[in-house]
Amino acid sequence: MTLFRHKPIDTVGEAQRRAKKVLPKDVYSAMQAGSDSGATMRGNLSAFEEIGMIPRVGVELAPSLDLKTSFMGQPIDLPVVIAPAAAFAMHPDGELAVARAAKRAGTATGLSMVASMPVEDVQRENPNTFQHVYLSGDRDTVAARVERFRRAGVKGLIFTMDLSGARVAFNPRDWGSPVYPDGLDLKTIIKYAPMALGHPRWLSRYLRRGVAPGLTAPNMSKSDGVAPTLVGALMEWISTPGPTWDDAAWLRELWDGPFMVKGIVTPDDARRAVDIGATAIGVSNHGGNNLDTTPSPLRFLPAVVDAVGDQAEITFDSGVRRGTDVVKALALGARSVLIGRPWFYGLSADGERGVYEVLDSFRITIERALVGLGKSSIHDVSIDDLVIPDGFFLNPKRGAGIPIDR
Ligand code: FNR
Repeated sequence: MTLFRHKPIDTVGEAQRRAKKVLPKDVYSAMQAGSDSGATMRGNLSAFEEIGMIPRVGVELAPSLDLKTSFMGQPIDLPVVIAPAAAFAMHPDGELAVARAAKRAGTATGLSMVASMPVEDVQRENPNTFQHVYLSGDRDTVAARVERFRRAGVKGLIFTMDLSGARVAFNPRDWGSPVYPDGLDLKTIIKYAPMALGHPRWLSRYLRRGVAPGLTAPNMSKSDGVAPTLVGALMEWISTPGPTWDDAAWLRELWDGPFMVKGIVTPDDARRAVDIGATAIGVSNHGGNNLDTTPSPLRFLPAVVDAVGDQAEITFDSGVRRGTDVVKALALGARSVLIGRPWFYGLSADGERGVYEVLDSFRITIERALVGLGKSSIHDVSIDDLVIPDGFFLNPKRGAGIPIDR
């Protein structure tokens, strides 16, 4: 008999509240992040609130609603995919738990190159795994890693171009950047002990497993096969010049499978990505972790779809928190969305179960949004289901917006 009945996480907001309670402050603030003042991060959320939905009544709907779509060519049951993002010190099961939850929810996993779990293990947990790549180290190092990802059997590469380690990764943030410890020596243990002891649920997860919070990046090993420390991996990244379109074209040559360029905001950049052979475009401002005061990419989505939607698959991320957000992004032309912080919250709150419940909350709220719109399928929603305020879109083709490609 269990003493406490489990109360499932039913919204991303609830997952966030639970994560904040469980995690030490530094771990929570590292995942919450947002560059500089956090204006972009907040703007990503409020952009969704500015768009309205037009309800319809009296429509006879199909007995089961259609939420199926594809991600980088692979069929998925839910249009919500795990964004590649490093899950340090949130939960000892890390990205393995995330991959299991994603598989159970019928969706794909994007795995960060800076992840705390080896790609081979993650790919085993969810065969629908897509590997993210930052340009980090020299070309031989990058090529050797790409070869490893190929051998691991990942289904595609996600090349993130909007965050150049060398230039912006360690920008100071108004909310106070946490310091990443370089391993667990005695000095570090003494320094962090009060913080860990103040969060017994988080600490006990690691103690029960007999493991320390992951501070290595196993997918960034070099020819010696040794996983670098997190700080070592970040140092390699920040000493590498930011990626150029030449680098993107070079990487594309190395990889003949599905290839996404992630971090695209404008139609011009989307065209360049298609020119170098990208099969998918990740419309994203890195969840507000790149150039602060960048508007929400939602404001550019129709312009990107107009520019390249017939040549590449469009996925969207940054600020997606509920089913109505997902449906709005799909109505504006995305085939799927990625979620970053929502899965962090679920993982931190309750491991694999937490991530699954967050994904399931998306399923339930997408269905609710479809019912409200009087649609049986995510493929039936369009801009006609939305109310868009004047000037919302930052593209001249859609009317009142600010011309961006002058
Ligand atoms: C990220 N993101 C990210 N993206 C990527 O391509 N590789 C990475 O390693 C990371 N790491 C990372 C860490 C943290 C702390 C955050 C908040 C984000 C960006 C991620 O893939 C995605 O674009 C955003 O998280 C989406 O925005 P939301 O859903 O967090 O609002």
